[in-house]
Amino acid sequence: MTQNSASKLLNGDTIHRSKQDKKAGGNGFVKNHCLFQQQQKRYRRPAEKSHHALYASLYKKPFVESFEETPLLVAVLTYMGYGILTIFGYLRDFLRDWKFEKCHLAREREEQKDFVPLYQDFENFYTRNLYMRIRDNWNRPIRSVPGAKMDLVERATPDYNWTFEHTGKVLKDVINMGSYNYLGFAENTGTCADAASECTVKYGMGVCSTRQELGNLDKHEELEKLTARFLGVESSMVFGMGFATNSMNIPALMGKGCLILSDELNHASLVLGARLSGATIRVYKHNNMQSLEKLLRDALIHGQPRTHRPWKKILILVEGIYSMEGSIVRLPEIVALKKKYKAYLYLDEAHSIGALGPRGRGVVDYFGLDPCDVDIMMGTFTKSFGAAGGYIGGKKELVDYLRLHSHSSVYATSMSPPITQQIITSMKCIMGEDGTTLGQERLRQLSENTTYFRRRLHEMGFIIYGNNDSPVVPLMLYMPAKIGAFGREMLKRNIGTVVVGFPATPIIESRARFCVSAAHTREMLDTALTAISEVGDLLQLKYSRKNRHGSEGTDCFSYLESHQD
Ligand SMILES: Cc1ncc(COP(=O)(O)O)c(C=O)c1O
Repeated sequence: MTQNSASKLLNGDTIHRSKQDKKAGGNGFVKNHCLFQQQQKRYRRPAEKSHHALYASLYKKPFVESFEETPLLVAVLTYMGYGILTIFGYLRDFLRDWKFEKCHLAREREEQKDFVPLYQDFENFYTRNLYMRIRDNWNRPIRSVPGAKMDLVERATPDYNWTFEHTGKVLKDVINMGSYNYLGFAENTGTCADAASECTVKYGMGVCSTRQELGNLDKHEELEKLTARFLGVESSMVFGMGFATNSMNIPALMGKGCLILSDELNHASLVLGARLSGATIRVYKHNNMQSLEKLLRDALIHGQPRTHRPWKKILILVEGIYSMEGSIVRLPEIVALKKKYKAYLYLDEAHSIGALGPRGRGVVDYFGLDPCDVDIMMGTFTKSFGAAGGYIGGKKELVDYLRLHSHSSVYATSMSPPITQQIITSMKCIMGEDGTTLGQERLRQLSENTTYFRRRLHEMGFIIYGNNDSPVVPLMLYMPAKIGAFGREMLKRNIGTVVVGFPATPIIESRARFCVSAAHTREMLDTALTAISEVGDLLQLKYSRKNRHGSEGTDCFSYLESHQD
């Protein structure tokens, strides 16, 4: 697992859910999943039925998405697991208070005991008592390029995961199932690496200035023109950091008196950007078009609270692929809604750009839509391009406006030259402008690998979430003890995986998250799948109650199926 991806699990990918929108599922706990599940089909209300029928024609191909419900017994055992951990947590905190056990986390100083607590003791409870037990699964240093295989630095802990020491050993050739290296461009050899190193010789590593001062290189302008062409939009602007692209550009567009409608599973950078903007934020259920339409309708009917003046503007915030669920945004329906209610649309393609669509142009390409239907196209270069940074694409006026008003343009240093070059070379490869078909082959390989990996996991009886075409594959672990055990057992078998728990997921929906790459060979995937199956048997993770060997249509129910009523 990469250090980057691992640390982001607990920091960057935090979810935010709408409390008022939660409904208890059949077994009594909250579920908010796909509209097109078979079960929901059975209980669908007439209004929902007409909604589906209305939007069916917007999709050109089957939209297959599955979120199998947590088995009741598993849910109960998971809650019990957390209950036991919490009791032990309190017991150990008691021992720490009485100095029987050492606490390594930041605590109030003795002489400031009567101050308002600086370190929010209770909020750290989870970190101290639950996360600390399995912390060895994260922040693991890697010692190679995070390609299909990688070298991991071995660590040992003398004090139950509070601190780590390097043993001096390296775990060689670990199959990397955790990096977002969708197209396999994270390489240290080949055309991209060569071009980046040549660029370093010419331009150096850093720019030492903002774009508006002395940090505007010809390379940046070349990349922006290329990105605009790649996306099929009038203009684009690039930024040195993906997170800041969201968190600094949303406040440049939205403010007081504006309304942001945000998917409940949006990335932390979108959430932060929305909060910093000062706009009113309303959260709709994940990928649920009825929930979004209701908010849009209410916004138009009621306007702003108290004054009932119309909202200055309404912005819908969505992602292309949701990196914790593996789901794909229902873009055709969202575009239809945004047009109907005259709202703006901000699409974050961090995980979908390069990874989806016949030409790798992301979710717009995947659905065969017009890029002009999305007002603000955002994405990052950190995943499919094996680089760093983010972009905003759209109309020329929008980009020109952001150049002047966005904090990440005015105050942040510009993108490093070798990174700019890495993106230019990989993007040209995807576009076929390098004179080869290597880009197309990578896209085809990713798609084949995704289908194969998902199908095999499903046949083995695991509960996996998300869309059939999503290279992000969450495999449900549920119980807290299984988070650590899964990561460790996989590593024993030389497979590096990312495991994810609360707060990046709902408390009982811990999971392992695999990222399929074009760089994985069939042999690597088979080795990983054999290990997953073994660990699955060992930890009893094959929870699925669906028909394992039937066609996908029998259990994953296609979009078309669910629209035929
Ligand atoms: C949806 C989404 N947006 C933005 C970002 C931030 O991008 P970066 O890691 O390039 O800063 C991420 C990171 O994972 C993401 O998943």
